[in-house]
Amino acid sequence: MQTSSVDPRLKGRPVARIPFDAETIARRVAELGREITAAYPDGDLLVLGLLKGSFIFVADLVREIERPLHVDFIVASSYGAGTVSSGTVRLVYDPETSLEGKHLLLVDDIVDSGRTLQELSTILRARKPKSIALCALFHKHIATELTEPVRFYGFDAPSEFLVGYGLDHAEDFRHVPYVASLQ
Ligand code: IMP
Ligand code: MG
Repeated sequence: MQTSSVDPRLKGRPVARIPFDAETIARRVAELGREITAAYPDGDLLVLGLLKGSFIFVADLVREIERPLHVDFIVASSYGAGTVSSGTVRLVYDPETSLEGKHLLLVDDIVDSGRTLQELSTILRARKPKSIALCALFHKHIATELTEPVRFYGFDAPSEFLVGYGLDHAEDFRHVPYVASLQ
């Protein structure tokens, strides 16, 4: 597989380094799936992915969770018109799925300030799920706005701008199968 700065997917953008190759990510996602499988008692589990950044992570993660579950997605935006708002984060797509009485696993690509996950969990908690847990592939550990723990996360993120495996820069590079840091 092509994983160098001559990868045509990168549009000629110089890559500083590739901190997480596809195999490393796959191994960790499988472990996370086992952690999640072991963590939940019986009852409905809804894996709720935050689009667009989590789309690849969710697709891989749910296939490593060996128990019944449902998958849905939400789209949040910190700007523009929305239907539900709390603070500065708005839901621009809101799933029809009822959350009441379900174990809710809210999945994002990366926790940076933590504001997105914090505000979404506040919005979603009002819908009376049985539990809410946060999950992210990367955690920068600089989240000052997040009062809740990220119960499941894949990797400590370096303080570099990461792209690939769902993460974008101006919508580019989401389809890159490994994670690179841009120069
Ligand atoms: P937060 O609300 O500040 O935690 O922002 C989280 C969101 O910012 C993520 O869902 C990403 O969309 C974006 N983000 C933060 N850091 C990075 C990065 O290094 N690369 C790509 N997107 C990032
Ligand atoms: Mg993004």
